[in-house]
Amino acid sequence: MKVKKVMVIGAGQMGSGIAQVHAMAGIEVILHDVNEEAAERGFKMILKNLSRQVEKGRITEVDKAIIINRIERSTDLEYARDVDMVIEAAVENIEVKSSLFAELDTIARAEAILATNTSALSITEVAAATSRPEQVIGMHFMNPVPVMKLVEIIRGLATTDDVYETVVALAHRLCKTPVEVNDFPGFVSNRILMPMINEAIFTVYEGVATPEAVDEVMKRGMNHPMGPLTLADFIGLDTCLYIMETLHAGFGDDKYRPCPLLRKYVKAGWLGKKTGRGFYQY
Ligand code: CAA
Ligand code: NAD
Repeated sequence: MKVKKVMVIGAGQMGSGIAQVHAMAGIEVILHDVNEEAAERGFKMILKNLSRQVEKGRITEVDKAIIINRIERSTDLEYARDVDMVIEAAVENIEVKSSLFAELDTIARAEAILATNTSALSITEVAAATSRPEQVIGMHFMNPVPVMKLVEIIRGLATTDDVYETVVALAHRLCKTPVEVNDFPGFVSNRILMPMINEAIFTVYEGVATPEAVDEVMKRGMNHPMGPLTLADFIGLDTCLYIMETLHAGFGDDKYRPCPLLRKYVKAGWLGKKTGRGFYQY
């Protein structure tokens, strides 16, 4: 199947980026969120990114208008009836994702693919909420989506070769590099990245160094483009905590226990850049 129309569920930082790269690749997009305000926020993020591309002379105002015209906003899941593929990028919570997939399963066409951008959750478990587990797959984009080349592709236990190949072909059309990995907590990306971020938080928690010093060490010493605490704020501390909890529960190994300081910040609503405060103030 050639994907011509997608629905992106969740218009946050990932969903808006996913919608943008599809529209830029000539694919029709429905950008869905729980309310109009959230859908509009995601849409405005896309407008801002495209305007920057115009300023840099990479696209024209006409290109921008054509791309924008491919994106429709929605607050009604019924729009899923109309698409070849759904890409879910709502909050990192298994109950939310399972309930969305169960509902999407009753709405989307029988041949439609249901993909999730989950950072760490089991694709097989999400697929089990549907009557079509063979058409459910993980398509894990990296943040910021318009910039980062990688897409991890994760098959659930039942995902067919056809569905896998369609999604790999789609990733190439988006000018991304798909890498297939197996369905285990955190896949490859977050199994390696998130314990490093968690350890950076422990380093602050135990008074070894300030957030600024930790970030400076990793930027200047290891050539990371962002220090781990800046990156945690950028990802969202709620998402970081959900991922650590998934690793901890999934492997049953205390080496993945989330740092209490991370829990405290999330409880305080200090979720990083998106709420204006995390390890840094924005
Ligand atoms: N959306 C779109 N484009 C963006 C952007 C955003 N949020 N932020 C930056 N960019 C673009 C800029 O427009 C700029 O584009 P041009 O080169 O075309 O001009 C380019 O990215 C570089 O930006 P800057 O010069 O402003 O800043 P920078 O050189 O520091 O790069 C960065 C910014 C690309 C974000 C870089 O700091 C970086 O690579 N950081 C690490 C990102 C990372 O590790 N991402 C993975 C997170 S983990 C994940 O995604 C998985 C998960 O499940 C949690
Ligand atoms: P975010 O908080 O920026 O956005 C989430 C959006 O989902 C919000 O707009 C929210 O209103 C919406 N939402 C919540 N419940 C919903 C529902 N039932 N139906 C429709 N929309 C709903 O989060 P994000 O950073 O964009 O993350 C989204 C997903 O992508 C998560 O699963 C996350 O783990 C994953 N992810 C995040 C990153 C990252 O760096 N932040 C990277 C890769 C993958």
